[in-house]
Amino acid sequence: MNVVVVNNFDRMSEEVAKIMIKQIIQKPKSVLGLATGSSPLRVYKLLVEYHNRGADFSGLTTFNLDEYVGLSKEHPQSYRQYMNENFFSHVNIKPENTFVPSGVTEDPEEECRLYEQSIKQAGGIDMQILGIGSNAHIGFNEPGTPFDSITQVVDLSESTIKDNARFFDTIEEVPTKAISMGIKTIMQAKEIVLMANGGSKAKAIYGAVMGRITPEVPASVLQLHPSVTIVVDQAAASKL
Ligand code: F6R
Repeated sequence: MNVVVVNNFDRMSEEVAKIMIKQIIQKPKSVLGLATGSSPLRVYKLLVEYHNRGADFSGLTTFNLDEYVGLSKEHPQSYRQYMNENFFSHVNIKPENTFVPSGVTEDPEEECRLYEQSIKQAGGIDMQILGIGSNAHIGFNEPGTPFDSITQVVDLSESTIKDNARFFDTIEEVPTKAISMGIKTIMQAKEIVLMANGGSKAKAIYGAVMGRITPEVPASVLQLHPSVTIVVDQAAASKL
């Protein structure tokens, strides 16, 4: 595990964008696993800037980690919307090569099965980008999720619902379920890059990097992966 400690959010974003750009240059047809949330916002901005300077993203395929159950792809807080607004609509990735689970499918179990199948058909994920929850979740795999889980419907924990309430008008509007790639799905990526900033992530980062490996701290599983880079600002690294 390679831990890179930087000064602040901007430096974290630059470092992660740099790693991704290197991957895209080395393999223009990369399959990228992508995250939403506050952490990667500036990374997407930097990738868009890179595209505006002439970089070609048309060979990429992307798989997002998760989507809220109950939110359509047009819903302003859906992760599909987030990805369109912050990244996809500003670059030349082919829309048909951008995968985000559907939150409004009639058969969520089948949606999960098909998602796993699409990842396999694409040849697996070359580089998975992750944020981390204050409870150390990765994707929406909350504490207690078995390490052999694959894409499935998950219940969001109280702390995640509270953390995500900032994006909704009232806490009642925050979805309580999501479709999330599983821990095993994430661990099958060839390379993993996790980013975190701020003191609210310090305990989770300690658990991910130095804690006991246990499903109670989902990100601790990353200690078992052969190629992980963790990019954190000083506040998130303060317990290391
Ligand atoms: C997002 C995801 C989550 C977030 C995590 C951190 O697709 O899967 O695991 O990465 O909740 O969220 P932020 O970055 O908003 O603190």
